[in-house]
Amino acid sequence: MTEIEAIRERHSVRAYLDKKIDSETVEKLNALIGRCNEKGNLHLQLLEDAGNTFNRLMSKVMGLGSAPSVIACVGPDDRTVEERVGYYGEKVVLYAQQLGLNTCWAGTYSAKNVPAEIGQNERLVIVIAIGYGANQGRPHKSKTPQQVVAGSGEKPDWFNFGVEMALLAPTAINQQKFEISLKEDGTAAFADRRGPFSRVDLGIVRYHFDVGAAYARKQKE
Ligand SMILES: Cc1cc2nc3c(=O)[nH]c(=O)nc-3n(C[C@H](O)[C@H](O)[C@H](O)COP(=O)(O)O)c2cc1C
Repeated sequence: MTEIEAIRERHSVRAYLDKKIDSETVEKLNALIGRCNEKGNLHLQLLEDAGNTFNRLMSKVMGLGSAPSVIACVGPDDRTVEERVGYYGEKVVLYAQQLGLNTCWAGTYSAKNVPAEIGQNERLVIVIAIGYGANQGRPHKSKTPQQVVAGSGEKPDWFNFGVEMALLAPTAINQQKFEISLKEDGTAAFADRRGPFSRVDLGIVRYHFDVGAAYARKQKE
């Protein structure tokens, strides 16, 4: 499965099989998480035993309580940590999809029950439920490209495909509160229209866009 296929096939999954992630897969995930932590200056941690992360009533209602494992998205408490968590966390999410796993970003969880290492000057931004899904989820309702792209006029193929991939990205409560524009210097800019976890969303969206844009550019070579 390519990363583009993973983008198309990934949906949030909230019901999981009672099955641990096998050790070979755990190793692969940890290798990527290590690289992401280095590149993104983060402290993402795969916790094989999710413990009571999802024990709150709301999580039980949402179904995430069945997730066997969780990725604790920890990082230094700085201005851009949420966006970096979104960007690199989504890279891990798509890799998990390629490895046959399912995931769900979760802003609702019991922070005190997450058995993560949180150093001084670090904070837990969000978690990602992970495991083998009891189903594969389903496509979300989406805004149109016109609703998220600033300005009118023809755009290059790489930009349009980037936007198409960005619209498949998970966002908190499916809010899709982002705007993408093409700057005069030929690069893309991303703006946050403010909502719960919209900084994390923005990082996730930017990762999807980058994968799409790079793919479209390669097709042209
Ligand atoms: C930052 C963030 C926080 C989220 N928090 C929750 C949550 O607390 N509970 C939940 O069930 N889903 C949560 N989601 C999943 C979104 O509801 C989901 O991504 C959105 O509805 C789009 O659906 P999709 O992921 O299947 O494409 C969250 C997603 C993101 C990106």
